[in-house]
Parts: sequence; C-alpha cells; structure tokens
Amino acid sequence: MNDPLVYLNGAMTPLSEAKIPVLDRGFIFGDGIYDVVPFYGRRPLRPTQHIARLMRSMAAIGITSPHDEAGWMALCDSVVAASPLADQMLYIQVTRGVAPRRHTFPAQVTPTVFIMSNPLVPPSASERATGLSCVSLDDKRWLRCEIKSTSLLGNVLAAQYAVEHDAIESIQFRDGFLTEGSSTNAWIVKDGVLLAPPKDNLILEGIRYRFIEELCMECGIPFEARRISRAEVDEADEILLSSATKEVINVTTFDSKPVGDGRPGPVGEQLYAAYQRVKAGLAG
Ligand code: PDD
Repeated sequence: MNDPLVYLNGAMTPLSEAKIPVLDRGFIFGDGIYDVVPFYGRRPLRPTQHIARLMRSMAAIGITSPHDEAGWMALCDSVVAASPLADQMLYIQVTRGVAPRRHTFPAQVTPTVFIMSNPLVPPSASERATGLSCVSLDDKRWLRCEIKSTSLLGNVLAAQYAVEHDAIESIQFRDGFLTEGSSTNAWIVKDGVLLAPPKDNLILEGIRYRFIEELCMECGIPFEARRISRAEVDEADEILLSSATKEVINVTTFDSKPVGDGRPGPVGEQLYAAYQRVKAGLAG
C-alpha cells in the first residue's frame, strides 16, 4: 500500500496514521495557511521565497511561527528524504491549533504543523503541445487573496466551475479586471509585452510571479504589472498561467474561442524553455 511518511506536530508518521483532533481550527474554521514547494531531483526551487511566504501568511493571520527559516527547511528536507520520489510537491500546512469552538483567537494554543510530499505532476506533453482551455468567471472570493489561506472555498468553487465547463482552469475577473486562476497566476501577452495584474490583495503573489519577471529580464521580454481589462484578455496574443504545478503554460482556448492563432505562442514557449533550464540546473 502507498502509505508515505508525513510530518505531523513533531513526528514522522505514515499518512494513514496521521490524525488531528476535530476541534482543530483548521477543520472548524479553515483557520490556517499553507504553501506548496516543488522539488526537482530532491532539490527545492526557490525555497527561500516559499518559506518567506509561509512566514508572511502566518504573520498575516497572527500565528507565531513555531520554527525559523532553517527549522522549516530542515523539516521539509526530512519529509523529502523519506520519499522515494525524485520530483516532489511538498505541501506545508499550519493551523492555529486545537481549541474550544469560539471565533476569536484562543489565548493559549499550539499551532498544528503538517507536511506531506506528493508526486510532482507537471502538465502532460499533449497539454503543452495543444495548450489549455480555460473559462472566465467573476471573482467572488474574499479581499485577502494575498494570504495563502487554507480557507479555499471560493477557489474550490472556481476550479469545479472550470471542470463542469470542460476547462482546466477558471480565469477570474473582479470588477472587469483580471485577477488570477483558481490555483494559478494569470498573465497575458500583447505585442511582445508580458502583462500581469499588480501584486495586491486581489491575487496571491505566486513564487513564480517574481521568477517569471526575472526570466523575462533574462530573455529580453518586456514586462509590465498593471490592471488588465477583460477586453485586453479577450484580445490578447497569448494568455499564460503559472503555478508550482503548472510551471508556465499557454492557454489556447478561452471561453471556447482561440487565443491568438489558437496555438501556444512564442513568449509562453520561451519562458517555458527558460524555466526548464533552471529546473535542469537544480536536478543536476
Ligand atoms: N497554488 N494563485 C493561487 C490562488 C494559487 O493557489 C497559486 C498556487 C498561485 C501560484 O503560486 P505559486 O507560483 O507559488 O505556485 C496563484 C498551489 C500550487 C496550490 O494551491 O496547490
């Protein structure tokens, strides 16, 4: 049976035996945060930024981090080392902890820490070749999307909306402006310029956000962060998505219409190639 070792509150344990009390505030209120770190050949991509975001998310909801950066790295490494997989997706979750059910923060509480490794499954060769199909959706989530919260109901409903409309991902708009996918950042290309929505409370700043900005500099692709209207997305030459799992990939069908000429465009392909070079350097 596939029963990987996971980390829960100070101990490594088989996943099937990892248990938390029902009064854990993560279960009761969704009162927690998480992060997802990709490992290639057991080496993490951008670990410092992932741990910094984990710390930011905790600070944003008033959880005192139970570990410093080195402590988090050591825990992550122990879970990665326990897995037979070379390429892994490390899931780290911290909740406020276990307490009687009252909305306000409990006075004395120990955060629950859970880390598991999952296989890293990037888009398939055929998804890369054809590009993804996405649908538009009004962004109905809360206004603190910059926090990587486990309260993901809005994102879950947006992801489900996509599959029910034969799409891979929903691309969301708030007040007529592009925000992001249900679990991805969204980008457009117009006249060779890569455009992204600004980093604010309306999107999660993906670790790939700054990474792609840097790849743009390396590849000589002009980059601009600003509000992007629905009309601009409809008329984009390319639409891209990025995340730890999707890496960077072209969307070629949007609301059943082709994006550009309906094939993955040159900017997406150039960024993907640059991304693969960094991965190959890591995996050695
Ligand atoms: N999701 N926006 C949202 C809402 C996300 O959930 C994610 C990542 C991103 C991209 O962030 P990054 O580049 O750091 O992966 C943007 C992860 C993969 C998840 O929830 O599983």
